[in-house]
Formats: sequence, structure tokens, C-alpha cells
Amino acid sequence: MRKKIVAGNWKMNTTVPQGVELAKEVVALSKDVKDCLLVVAPPFTHLAPVAEALKGSKVALAAQNCADHTSGAYTGEVAVDMIDSIGCTYCILGHSERRQYYGETDEKLVVKVKLALEKNIKPILCVGENLEEREAGKHFDVVTSQIKNVLYTLTAEEMKNIVVAYEPVWAIGTGKTATAEQAQEIHAAIRKCLADKFGAQVAEDTTILYGGSCKPSNAKELFAQKDIDGGLIGGAALKAADFIAIAQSY
Ligand code: 13P
Repeated sequence: MRKKIVAGNWKMNTTVPQGVELAKEVVALSKDVKDCLLVVAPPFTHLAPVAEALKGSKVALAAQNCADHTSGAYTGEVAVDMIDSIGCTYCILGHSERRQYYGETDEKLVVKVKLALEKNIKPILCVGENLEEREAGKHFDVVTSQIKNVLYTLTAEEMKNIVVAYEPVWAIGTGKTATAEQAQEIHAAIRKCLADKFGAQVAEDTTILYGGSCKPSNAKELFAQKDIDGGLIGGAALKAADFIAIAQSY
């Protein structure tokens, strides 16, 4: 059985005290969540105090990115060793905002994914098409080539530690959610793409999250889809009650 996950990507929001408060609220409410792993991904500055706030809880910690080098003269970057040493077990990689604004390419992502895996950090690899690509009917091609470019470089063994997040760019922060059918058909295509390379079992065991304006009011329908195994939540993850309500949508 693949793992169900609801992960909160806080992006560049909250001060450190606000983030610690939010983490504490998530921990307090997490006791009501069954059969679903909760993950929070605060900004780098928050990781140490949030790790402290999560201690003793079942909420896992993720970074929102990591460097494509192990250490050295890379001013402003944060290495995977560093996030590992602070207690992160997941790392979001390839978010569309990083692809769009910070020149994150599939080639760089191959390096980052491998560095994370070497440290037993599980990458949450984001894929997704933009509006233009969706309107041109290229969404399946865009998403499957992102998957192939990055994940086809891995072994089946390494794939066991990968989480995929499908986030259509046009649905992120726009209030426009993909319909459950639109999301399901892409999730199924991702799973098929993984099965083609790694076999049916690996594909069946891979957790594939949906992200993009997911909130308590639409999570139930999305999570009811066969190939949707949870969510990567942006805006709604900044309110503990909403984040937990999403996780309770199973
Ligand atoms: P929103 O939930 O705010 O649309 O953001 C989704 C996202 O980008 C999560 O990584």
C-alpha cells in the first residue's frame, strides 16, 4: 500500500515566530489525523526551531529546495547535508516557482534528487504544465517528459524513496483547481510512465500528490481519485485548521 501524504509548502511566508506557532498548531491538531503522513516545509530559516516544535510528533519536516553541490563556495545556497543535520526527511524539488523564477532545469534536478537520495532525504519532485501548454493540449507530453528527464535516471530501488507532486501551474495560487478528472488522468499517466520504466509494482507503490488551490472544500473529491495519494498544499497550509481539515478528507 502506498503512503498517503499531505504536505504543506509554506513558500516564503511567515516570520520565524509565526512559523513556530503554526508548527505547534499543526502538531496539536495532528492527533486527529489517521492514516496520512503530515509533512511541513517551512523556509530554511525556520527549519531548526520548527524541528524542535515537531519533536515527539508524527509530523515530518521538509525543506523547500536544496543546492546542487555538496558544500563549498556557493554563497546563499543550502546543502542537503545541512537540511539532513537539522532533521529534514523530505525535500521539495523542482517546484514550478523555482523552475520559472530561478532557472531550475531538469538537468539540475537530476543532481539534486541524487544528492538528496544519498542522504536518505526523500525528494518530493514537482511536475506540471503551464496554462499555455494545457491550452495547446500538451499537458501529458510536458508532464511525462519532466518525469522521464529526472526520474528515468534512477534505479527502481531509488524510486522507492521518491514522491511525485503534480502541480498544474495554472492552478497554483489562482483559486482554479484542476477538476478531479483532470488531475486523475494526469496522475494515471504519471503512474503509467513510471510503470513503463520501473515495472508495475514500483509505479503502484509511488505516492503521487496533487497541488494547486487544494483546500478543505475540494480535497475530498480530489483524494477520492484512484491515483491521487494526497496533496501538496500552499495557501491553505498556512492555517493549521485548514491544513488538518484537508488531511482529514480521506
Ligand atoms: P496553492 O495551494 O497556494 O495553490 O499552492 C500550491 C503549491 O504550489 C504547493 O506547492
